[in-house]
Amino acid sequence: MSRSVMDTEQTLSPHREDCSQNITGDLAISCADVSLAFGEQHVLDGLCWEVTKGSRVAVMGPSGSGKTSLLHILAGIIIPYSGRVSIAGLDLQRARTKARAVLRQRKVSMVFQFGELLPELRVGENVALPLLLRGDKPSVDLVNGVLEAVGFDNPKAWPAQLSGGETQRVAIARALVTQPEVILCDEPTGSLDKESSKLVVSVLRGAASDSGATLVVCTHDQSVADQMGEVYDLTQGRLAHRQ
Ligand SMILES: Nc1ncnc2c1ncn2[C@@H]1O[C@H](COP(=O)(O)OP(=O)(O)OP(=O)(O)O)[C@@H](O)[C@H]1O
Ligand SMILES: [Mg+2]
Repeated sequence: MSRSVMDTEQTLSPHREDCSQNITGDLAISCADVSLAFGEQHVLDGLCWEVTKGSRVAVMGPSGSGKTSLLHILAGIIIPYSGRVSIAGLDLQRARTKARAVLRQRKVSMVFQFGELLPELRVGENVALPLLLRGDKPSVDLVNGVLEAVGFDNPKAWPAQLSGGETQRVAIARALVTQPEVILCDEPTGSLDKESSKLVVSVLRGAASDSGATLVVCTHDQSVADQMGEVYDLTQGRLAHRQ
């Protein structure tokens, strides 16, 4: 069970609950009193969160509530101005830039709303890229196998030739190829029709359960959230567990 340390009945501000960081072996993610601002704008305000390894979690919230910012913090791309964040066993505040890069190469992957494949590389090359960047030499069989797992069998295709759903499935393959412990997805079905969205979510769920990875999906789509084990709402800079 993942849980927000926050009691949803509590007043959100200016109260700060005590959520000392509790790094135990069964947690994939731990956020303790995390705050983030862009200039005068406060986006996260004492956010506390724990996600158990292997769980599937949806994060919902209005546009501008901070979902993408939270994912960027979890991926070690931006550093909050206060609080502690651990993911896949790494304390991000203590980690150096290099350690955060290694985290993204080996333990944490992201899937973006539009897939963000590199247009000048073929599908197979896009999938192989995270392994090449970390110095591995992936075999063709490995790359094709990961693509097969997401139901795509044309590694020689160019990204421009793919539909939105196919693009997302290839992006998921690219995220999975490193065998990450945590998969962070930022509106992975935001640009898809209902049918493609269903397929993409089932691929994500299947891949996560096969590998035991923890899955965090930010979404505006209730039907996507319903397919995750737990749902959190991000409002006023904090996460509340939806009962
Ligand atoms: N690099 C940045 N510089 C300044 N402000 C930023 C930056 N990144 C995000 N913001 C602001 O922080 C707030 C939260 O943005 P974020 O993208 O995290 O929201 P979101 O919940 O993902 O929204 P959406 O559902 O539209 O994707 C927004 O008001 C946004 O304008
Ligand atoms: Mg966003």
